[in-house]
Amino acid sequence: MKVLIVGGGGREHAITWAVAKSPRVDKIYAAPGNAGIAELAECVDISAMDSEKLVAFAKEKEIDFVVVGPDDPLAAGVADAFLDAGFKTFGPRKNAAIIEASKAFSKDLMKKYNIPSAAYETFTDADEAMKYLETIDAPYVLKADGLALGKGVLICQTLEEAKEGIKEMMIDSKFGSAGNKVVIEEFMTGREVSVLCFSDGKTIRPMTSAQDHKRAGDGDTGLNTGGMGTFSPSPFYTKDIDEFCFKNIYQPTIDAMAAEGRPFKGVLYCGLMLTPNGPKVVEYNARFGDPEAQVVIPRLKNDIMDVFEACADGTLDQIELEFEDNAAVCVMLASDGYPVSYEKGFEMKGLENFKDKDGYFAFHSGSKFNDEGKIVTNGGRVIGITALGKDLFEARANAYKATEWVDFENKYMRHDIGKAIDEQ
Ligand code: AMP
Ligand code: GLY
Repeated sequence: MKVLIVGGGGREHAITWAVAKSPRVDKIYAAPGNAGIAELAECVDISAMDSEKLVAFAKEKEIDFVVVGPDDPLAAGVADAFLDAGFKTFGPRKNAAIIEASKAFSKDLMKKYNIPSAAYETFTDADEAMKYLETIDAPYVLKADGLALGKGVLICQTLEEAKEGIKEMMIDSKFGSAGNKVVIEEFMTGREVSVLCFSDGKTIRPMTSAQDHKRAGDGDTGLNTGGMGTFSPSPFYTKDIDEFCFKNIYQPTIDAMAAEGRPFKGVLYCGLMLTPNGPKVVEYNARFGDPEAQVVIPRLKNDIMDVFEACADGTLDQIELEFEDNAAVCVMLASDGYPVSYEKGFEMKGLENFKDKDGYFAFHSGSKFNDEGKIVTNGGRVIGITALGKDLFEARANAYKATEWVDFENKYMRHDIGKAIDEQ
């Protein structure tokens, strides 16, 4: 079968790697893909947002199955365009992707269906928001309603800071229209864990757990990023917690979306906080996490095409997910200065070191071929180095060893990915 993968980041590279392993797949196209994906798929220069061109391409190549990876195209209805044109597609429709695209929608949904999450209020008026801040205690959690590349959340320690935050979001439009509406939320404490779940709109199958490191600097300092590294599984996500979450969070969310006439088919990413009062939802995403996909997908034993098809066909109840009894760690190599400003276009050296090395992966996030055909850096996050190990300690040592195999000017990484496992 012929598969088209929409997107061009590390998540899509991991997805492409898994799709390429499927014996049922003969040909993979990626739009737009990247220099790493190009080893496994034919990359076509079409933006992930251009549904008209994407659908025309899929028709021309008689594509059998489409996978839409990133959040922006899903929120914009790219999966709808393929589905409406008759293509089997993995990824939620726009009316379900709203669970990620609007924080106000997801908070209202959780409240209506009693899904555990932080208490909150929603505001469209800056004065009202400022007045409300005066009635609550620090720390203040402010969230821009719309998609803001993972950067639309501010945690403020003082009232002044919080008021400044409201001004930036609602008056100065720092996050564009994403900040027209703002959610102010109760501050939660605890460990964070990400659980990505497959769903066909009725059945939900959670994958193995993972933990992200969102801040740019060691010791969780600096700005929020898209994610600087991940590990899987989380040793803090126990069987009891999993059972609680299945019963109180995962299945109720899928049932709630169905009840609202917004059946969710794709990956529902549940960002959880393990608070002293039990697990609560921090956020939902409507897709694989990036770089969570880079540690979860390499541990999946199933043929990923079987799972994708079952989600599209509504037969996920017939699939049991299986994961290797091992661990994975991903360390993101970024361009120094990310997420604010950075240079790109530097040649990447040493990629051949990953050839034929079992258990080591170099998933490209931002790379491209330059005019001379050399692979150069092309983004803030450049390449996610993932390694497997029998346990988290071995996986972490392997991943850090492998970060030395690749080099480029302005290479930057965190040195404490997976540090939490020392505390288990
Ligand atoms: P989000 O984009 O909603 O996942 O938020 C980004 C990060 O902000 C999360 O990964 C948490 O570390 C933090 N965060 C979000 N909401 C809360 C909250 N209510 N209490 C404490 N921390 C939060
Ligand atoms: N790594 C966080 C995310 O994909 O949203």
